[in-house]
Amino acid sequence: MRRFEGRRAVVTGGASGIGRATALRLAGEGAEVLIGDIDEEGARAVVAEGEGRIAFQRCDVTDPGDIASLMVTADTAGGIDALFNNAGAGGTRAVIDEIDVAGWDATQNLLLRSVALGIREAAPLMAKRGGGAIVNTASIAALMSGAAPTAYSVAKAGVLHLSRMAAADLARHRIRVNAVCPGFITTNIFTSTVGIEGEKRDQANRVIAQMASNAQPIARAGLPEDIAAAVAYLLSDDASFVTGTHILVDGGMAVGMRHSWDPDTPGLFDSLAAFAA
Ligand SMILES: NC(=O)c1ccc[n+]([C@@H]2O[C@H](COP(=O)([O-])OP(=O)(O)OC[C@H]3O[C@@H](n4cnc5c(N)ncnc54)[C@H](O)[C@@H]3O)[C@@H](O)[C@H]2O)c1
Repeated sequence: MRRFEGRRAVVTGGASGIGRATALRLAGEGAEVLIGDIDEEGARAVVAEGEGRIAFQRCDVTDPGDIASLMVTADTAGGIDALFNNAGAGGTRAVIDEIDVAGWDATQNLLLRSVALGIREAAPLMAKRGGGAIVNTASIAALMSGAAPTAYSVAKAGVLHLSRMAAADLARHRIRVNAVCPGFITTNIFTSTVGIEGEKRDQANRVIAQMASNAQPIARAGLPEDIAAAVAYLLSDDASFVTGTHILVDGGMAVGMRHSWDPDTPGLFDSLAAFAA
């Protein structure tokens, strides 16, 4: 499939994980991609993998000026048809009654304000080309508790509703806006959040991959490519009648507590069996 032949895309957080896989997927389907990220080394590797179809500009999505500059660069190079607002990290892990203002603000600015500003900057540039498509990375944590800390989960719930509101606001410009909700996906986000790097990161990621295989009904680890496939669909003309909604890509994690889907995990009625006998 080459659904993005002649199209131009911007991907934030494209140096690693879900953003990297999506940049490569879009480029593989014919797009010219500009990635924005703070990880210059990681981004250079993705540019090399992109075989001439992927470019990089340093962009800290907590800086409104950087976001504006990223979009202007993409526009000047030929325009923007597709935008994936995806950069992120774990944010503060404090519980709500211990949260500090700086940690709360930093988390919201990284995960939610960045998405609002990405949309604000890209929308007029897409509108003047006759339309476009935007996907924002939310999370399973936007839909349920227990998947991530409070500040992160609230920011991601904001991303979901922002996606709906922006879809309504921008339909008049023929711009579609949707979100993707990843479940447990094996990327560096977990080690980054707690500051594990280098060789230890690789070891920790192997442990994470093992855990991720057992975390949901589909018994394998969720991969960045699983999310990239959903994002590519939402950004493509295959989704031309799809806006203001989200796709949950979680291997079935949201179906409920483990005993509801794992026959080897005892549930309430297994515990009561001894009394019934
Ligand atoms: N991995 C999961 O299980 C999971 C689940 C749900 C949602 N998500 C979301 O997916 C998105 C991508 O995360 P990932 O799992 O691929 O992690 P990742 O760590 O592999 O990639 C995140 C990328 O964002 C970049 N980034 C971080 N802060 C930035 C900033 N201020 N400005 C620009 N770039 C910045 C990082 O450098 C990195 O390249 C995030 O929004 C994350 O919250 C991930």
